[in-house]
Amino acid sequence: MKISIVVPTYNERENLPLLIKKINDVLKEIDFELIIVDDDSPDKTWELAQQMAKDYPFVKVIRRINEKDLATAVLEGFRNSDGDILAVMDADLQHPPEKLIDMLDGIKKGADIVIGSRYVEGGEIEEWGAIRKFYSKFATLLAHIFLPRSRIVKDPMSGFFMLKRKVIENVELDPIGYKILLEILAKGKYDRVEEEPIKFRKREKGKSSLNLTNQIKYLRHLLRLSWETKEIHRMLKFAFVGLTGVFVNLGILWALTDIAGIYYLLSAIFSIEASILSNFLLNDIWTFKDRKEKGVKEWLKRLAKFNLISLPAFPMQLSIMGILKELFGVYYLLAALAGILVVFIWNFVANSLWTWRKVQ
Ligand code: GDD
Ligand code: MN
Repeated sequence: MKISIVVPTYNERENLPLLIKKINDVLKEIDFELIIVDDDSPDKTWELAQQMAKDYPFVKVIRRINEKDLATAVLEGFRNSDGDILAVMDADLQHPPEKLIDMLDGIKKGADIVIGSRYVEGGEIEEWGAIRKFYSKFATLLAHIFLPRSRIVKDPMSGFFMLKRKVIENVELDPIGYKILLEILAKGKYDRVEEEPIKFRKREKGKSSLNLTNQIKYLRHLLRLSWETKEIHRMLKFAFVGLTGVFVNLGILWALTDIAGIYYLLSAIFSIEASILSNFLLNDIWTFKDRKEKGVKEWLKRLAKFNLISLPAFPMQLSIMGILKELFGVYYLLAALAGILVVFIWNFVANSLWTWRKVQ
């Protein structure tokens, strides 16, 4: 079994020698190749890599001239590799090369993908301040919401992972930005994914290229994946069900108050619960039909969760309306609309992550 390790580089001249040396030490017993994909770095990383390839025959160098993107660089590396196992890691030594051995063990024991993870027990981040940590966690939460398949792991944003080639064979990958792993988790063919805890170290030399452009690329990438995997469609279904609930609510309120002559606030209690019930039933048989655990007990649990999540909707709607109108002078119908939007987001996210959390 041969491993192809793909390392995307941009201005990593200072880190390359130590990286190659360490990988060489760690993998001396193993058949592997190291594919450096450089996007024509101004510091001529590619040139140094080509020189080093003379002493280290496992090094291959690809210099791309007209493109600059981490994720597509990795794909270029995959295309030029011939290992049965693929790995991706950064050049700046933030990913500990020793871990390649543990990851390989995981693959040998049957995992299809092994992720070097910062967010499982034993994992850690050495350098980042609170703000970057928060961004990273928030970006991960967005992935878990918009791409449910990524929920099976705690760190779908990691740039350090290993996989069997068959996971991506004949799969059309089309990523942008930094999160190549997300693309593979969304579209790849796999059953078992494991996370190996890593300590995400301080950058050895130079600085990170992560910037606002890349963060925007991430959002574009995530929305595209969400569309392609039909998760956006699910949100639209959920919104449509919510709309039918309004009619159920008003219809029953009217019937109980006007026809049955019940006091309107008492009627409202029944009509609200009726709409919660009809929303639940429709979402359960339609919106989330692929995400259910079988059995009556599980069904009852979902019903209870759905009701619990609906509970704060009323005070949320009222306080958002009140605040927008009284404090900011927003026209009350517009304030109501803003409230509905927030409640919708709350309902969808909470139900997706809790009531119908199961994926695959
Ligand atoms: N070919 C190529 N083209 N390589 C690039 C480019 C590019 O445009 N931009 C960055 N790289 C290389 C860097 O040289 C480095 O080897 C690796 O990709 C990671 O880049 P960094 O700039 O060091 O990224 P980071 O440390 O901020 O982000 C890392 O951690 C993230 C997790 O929070 C990366 O591993 C990300 O993929 C990961 O999501
Ligand atoms: Mn880095």
